[in-house]
This record gives sequence, C-alpha cells and structure tokens, in this order.
Amino acid sequence: MIQEGISIKVDLFYKEHKPTLGLDIGATSIKVVQLKKSGRNTKLVGYGNIGLPGGCISEGIIYDPETVAKYIKKLLEEPKYGKFKAKRVNSAIPESYIFTRVLELPEMTYDDMEQAIIWDAEQYIPIALSDLYIDFEVLGPALSAKEGYNDVALVAAPKAIVDSYMKMFDLLSLEVGILETNLSSIARAVISQKEINETIVLADIGGERTNMAIFDRAIRVTGSLPRGGVDFTRAIAEKCKINILEAEETKNQDGLPAKGGKAKEAMEPILLEIVRDIKKIIAYYEEKSGGNKKNLVSKLIICGGNASVPGLTEYLEKAINLKTLMGNPWANISIYPLKPVPKLEAPMYTAAIGLALKGNIYA
Ligand SMILES: Nc1ncnc2c1ncn2[C@@H]1O[C@H](COP(=O)(O)OP(=O)(O)OP(=O)(O)O)[C@@H](O)[C@H]1O
Ligand SMILES: [Mg+2]
Repeated sequence: MIQEGISIKVDLFYKEHKPTLGLDIGATSIKVVQLKKSGRNTKLVGYGNIGLPGGCISEGIIYDPETVAKYIKKLLEEPKYGKFKAKRVNSAIPESYIFTRVLELPEMTYDDMEQAIIWDAEQYIPIALSDLYIDFEVLGPALSAKEGYNDVALVAAPKAIVDSYMKMFDLLSLEVGILETNLSSIARAVISQKEINETIVLADIGGERTNMAIFDRAIRVTGSLPRGGVDFTRAIAEKCKINILEAEETKNQDGLPAKGGKAKEAMEPILLEIVRDIKKIIAYYEEKSGGNKKNLVSKLIICGGNASVPGLTEYLEKAINLKTLMGNPWANISIYPLKPVPKLEAPMYTAAIGLALKGNIYA
C-alpha cells in the first residue's frame, strides 16, 4: 500500500489560494522568500536569511525543532526586506537523504503501478518500507523511446525526516503546502522555459554539501558530496594562516584569485572532488541514455551560497569542459522599489525562490 506521499498534499492544499512562504532550511543558514503574482509580473513580497548554529539538524532530521523554530521566527520578524503574514509554507528536504528513482514501466492501471513501485522500493531502498513515505509521479513517455512505456519517478523519504519538519512547522503554527526535494525547487527557479528541452546539470554548492542533479524534462539522477563552503573557508584559513572570519571574507569577496592564488591552491583539493563528481554524474547519465544525442548535457548551472565565489564559474567551466553559468533565480522577479539583491547573495536564495514559485503565489 502506498503511504501518505509527500506531494499528495499539493493537490489537497493547492485548491485554495493562499500566501505561501518559500523556506529553505540549510545546514548553515535558513532562507525565506515570498512572491506575489501581479498581472503578468511576479513581485517580491519579502526575503531574508539567517545563520543557523551547527547541531540542530543531523542526517536531514531536525533534532532540535525548538531552536530551529526560534531562528525561523526571528527571520520572519526581521527579514532583509518585506513583511510576512503568510500562514502556509513550502519547504524542502535535502536530496541526500531522500531516495529517488526513475522506473520505466509499461502502461498499467494505477493499482498495478502502486504494486510495481512498492516492489521496486523493497528491492532497492535499504530502509524498511514502514519507515518511509513513498510517492510516485508519471513523468511521461520513456526517455528510451520504448513503445508503450512511461518513465515514473519514485520518491521515498524517511518518516523521521518528514515528521521532524512537520513537528517544527507545527511549533510555528505554519501549515505545510508542500515538502519537496531541494533540487526540484532549484530546477524550478533556474531553468527557463527556453531551456526546458535541454539536458542540464545542476549543482547546489551549499554550506556543508554539494548536491547535483541531471535535469532532462525532470530530475533524473542526483548525487551528493559532503563538501561545501565551510570546507573552502577552513582550507583558506589554514593555508593563508588567517582566522575563519577573515577566510570567509577572502572567499566571498576575492574568491579564487585571492592572496596571489593561495586561496585557489587551498580550495583546489575540494574543487577537484566537486569536478570529479559532476563529471561522474554526467558520464553515468549519458551512458545510461545509450549515447542518445538528445540526452547529452548542454550546460552546468551552479547555485547555492558558494556559487558566487569569484572565479568559481570560470574554474568549473574549464575543469569540466562544459558551459557553466551561475543560476539567476531573481531574473524574472520584480523587486521594485528595492535595489537588486547583491550579486554575492543572489544564488543563495535559489531553492527558497523555487519553493515560493510552487503552486499559487497569491499574497
Ligand atoms: N552574503 C552572504 N551571506 C551569508 N553567506 C554567504 C554570503 N555569500 C556567500 N555566502 C556563503 O554561503 C554559504 C551558505 O550557503 P547556503 O545557504 O547555500 O548553504 P546551506 O543551504 O546552509 O547549506 P547546505 O546546502 O550544505 O545544507 C556559506 O558557506 C557562506 O560562505
Ligand atoms: Mg542548501
């Protein structure tokens, strides 16, 4: 039997139009964005971020919901811009703790599909089914073009993670609209209508992790590496013999060229791991697609708080030998009368914007 799924809630809740917060709870910081539809424009209602002390979240589970709720409350009361009155929230769970698989299934009844999904989950997911919320979505005709077959996405999330998010939102008296995976929110925020038929690699270079995905009409494969901004900063501090705060400033302001190339030297072992994993996910996907030209990766889009490290886009483009862009989730959002969000901070809000864009954005 399929259990209460993560996205089943979408259909229930989104029948009514309600102002909704997009809330991205990262390992090192929480980001919030609220948007409003105004004619053909999408307007910014408010946005902000707040640092989160380590230890509140571990392996995706919010172990200290009271503290995280306290930080969210503070963020909602003191954002960088705007006023939040929304009582509903869309949020995301890090990819690394969620199991996603795309199955190729022949046309069948809903009940048979449920059985096929459960069978697959039992075979491939190393967690008891009773500890998971499972859901699935038919993505469309199979990429392999096999006659009469569909690609079906299976999503399984550990109950301990989902329940910990629900408990925390309960403490905040916020109703949950959707809980999805971070990379789904990111894809919505940075992949334009024009790019919808391309095969794109996404890399979210966050505080503690770099999460990757191949997007080909939907997210097909994901990967996760426990390396991120905190590792960059620590490496710069050690190499340049400066303290963590100075190293953070050096990384964010001057980036790879800083200290006569010493920052790059310090970051290089971590960068090489990121490059290796991005190359690996591309090779895996292209091979799986049987060398089908349609599925060849056309570009890499980076986002997350560390995508804006100066020199990083160029470095990755050269090392991976693939067109690389910093995602701009703000591109289609009207922020008048505000000044543009500083370039260094802009990619940090990618997932929060994607979450705010999901469903209705009435304020
Ligand atoms: N203006 C800024 N304010 C705060 N952090 C910034 C800024 N510019 C760059 N950063 C970097 O952003 C990083 C946090 O990025 P992000 O918010 O994407 O991570 P996270 O979501 O908390 O972590 P993870 O995705 O690993 O769970 C920090 O490492 C910090 O160095
Ligand atoms: Mg993050």
